[in-house]
Amino acid sequence: MALAMLLAISSFFIISAHASSDNFLLCLSRAIPEQLLFTRSSPPIASVLASSVRNPRFLTPATVRPLCIVTATNASHVQAAVVCGRRHGVRLRVRSGGHDYEGLSYRSARAEEPFAVVDLVGFRSVRVNRREATAWVDSGAILGELYYAIAKVSGRLAFPAGMCPTVGVGGHLSGGGFGMLLRKHGLATDHVMDATLVDAKGRILDRKAMGRDVFWAIRGGGVGGSFGIVLSWQVKLVAVPPTVTVFTVERSVEQGAVDILAKWQEVAPSLPDEQGAVDILAKWQEVAPSLPDELLVRVVAQGQVANFQSLYLGTCDALLPVMSSRFPELGVDRTHCKEMNWLQSVANIFLGGGATVEDLLKRTASGDTVFNKATSDYVRQAIPRDIWLQIFTSWLARPTAGLMILDPYGGKIASVSESETPFPHRAGVLYNVQYMNFWGSAGEEAARTGWVRDLYAFMTPHVSKNPREAYVNYKDLSLGANVVGGGNVTSFEAGRVWGEKYYKGNFRRLAMAKAQIDPNDYFRNEQSIPPLGNQIILTNVARVDHAA
Ligand code: FDA
Repeated sequence: MALAMLLAISSFFIISAHASSDNFLLCLSRAIPEQLLFTRSSPPIASVLASSVRNPRFLTPATVRPLCIVTATNASHVQAAVVCGRRHGVRLRVRSGGHDYEGLSYRSARAEEPFAVVDLVGFRSVRVNRREATAWVDSGAILGELYYAIAKVSGRLAFPAGMCPTVGVGGHLSGGGFGMLLRKHGLATDHVMDATLVDAKGRILDRKAMGRDVFWAIRGGGVGGSFGIVLSWQVKLVAVPPTVTVFTVERSVEQGAVDILAKWQEVAPSLPDEQGAVDILAKWQEVAPSLPDELLVRVVAQGQVANFQSLYLGTCDALLPVMSSRFPELGVDRTHCKEMNWLQSVANIFLGGGATVEDLLKRTASGDTVFNKATSDYVRQAIPRDIWLQIFTSWLARPTAGLMILDPYGGKIASVSESETPFPHRAGVLYNVQYMNFWGSAGEEAARTGWVRDLYAFMTPHVSKNPREAYVNYKDLSLGANVVGGGNVTSFEAGRVWGEKYYKGNFRRLAMAKAQIDPNDYFRNEQSIPPLGNQIILTNVARVDHAA
């Protein structure tokens, strides 16, 4: 009898889930042209889904796939997807460039919740206003398209965002976005002036209509479409000189890479001398960053080699005296310098010496289809030399090793206050570390991801603490995932585990902004911002009062 009832109840849920999915698709078909709607019964859905998947880890038979994909080409398609989704209980994932490290723009970790993907690949125009030095860019554009469009209008304008040209504007600006101009100009999101957002009611809101808190939140806290779907962004462009200089220097461990790396930690973000960490930090607090903001030297450490990749906003003649006075150990001379314009430098640094600026328009790049796993840290105190020695001779020397990417901060990025945008990793940060591993077949996954996990554990004493900070655009679900609590909304308390790593104290304000725009938590995923309503705030205040 009980079994019969259970079967009846579960088949009711299956039937009603089917019914709501069918009604959802019917609703979409009334508002969206047939050729833009790919359902599970239309075979092209597989290739549309795969078209911007950057990590085959999330395209296996076990991957939870969408009910359908809407390849929106105008705002009304996005609005229809939201309205139909809410009406029929289907959640949305939004994909711009598909680079999400956990694939959350096109897959779900929860099999029980049906979802659809809004893919903005067809929503990607860039409109540059040379006179005002601004641009409106649609979320589905890739960074390469944005850079190219700007430079074609003026060779003296640029935009400070990520290095990889295939990254989507939508996800990148939502989480911060930094690249070779970060020391001179800060984050991509620091330059957002306005945006258009489709909210959970299907309305299109601009900066004024969405209000101060939500506009603050989407500039760095828009994880996974927590607040809605951003259609377009208005950004302020920055000035660049007609000539910039690129140089790369490789040092192997035998050549003294460990010594140079130890020195680099001191010099690159801001620190001028070779004393102990305490003396250096004390001095650092007095003076502006010692390397000029025009100069960024990043490091890729792989195998027994540290590769120093650099961009200087100026000529080789101007660069050489800076390098010889501030970082003579690297031995940079005229033979290292490659002078070019800014757009060429973007192609050169990420795609290699043979790349053309037209290559920046390609939505795929070699290496896009390699299995990978990454996580990140922030370093606020220089890591001792003996630890770097251990990293090279033990961690990076293993057959299953990946690589480490070190991006120096300081300069403009550090001059913005922690609460100006949701991105809090500002003053005091020496550099960001990314631990990455790659592999070619599913069988290697355990060993390769294990290397990332174990190195992350080893680094604990040497990186930021309380919270241990991480960069949201290098999303990592092993830092923690959401729990859905009472009222069918995501739990704020559970979210703090990962949220304070990405946002520090800004996590609470983000959750309050979420409660303003999406109190019922329609836009949610494994690491979306939970809504924190008045009731919960009062409860917390009461708890603090009680404790006091
Ligand atoms: P994707 O489309 O997968 O979206 C990422 C997240 O944002 C998802 O949760 C998605 O739902 C959400 N989202 C996307 N569009 C949205 C929209 N319109 N509205 C609301 N939510 C939206 N970072 C960096 O700072 N500097 C760098 O140099 C690089 N380089 C780099 C290289 C490579 C090869 C990869 C794979 C990644 C990077 N990144 C990076 C990280 C990158 O900034 C991050 O993965 C971005 O979120 C990617 O944005 P996409 O639009 O491509 O991803």
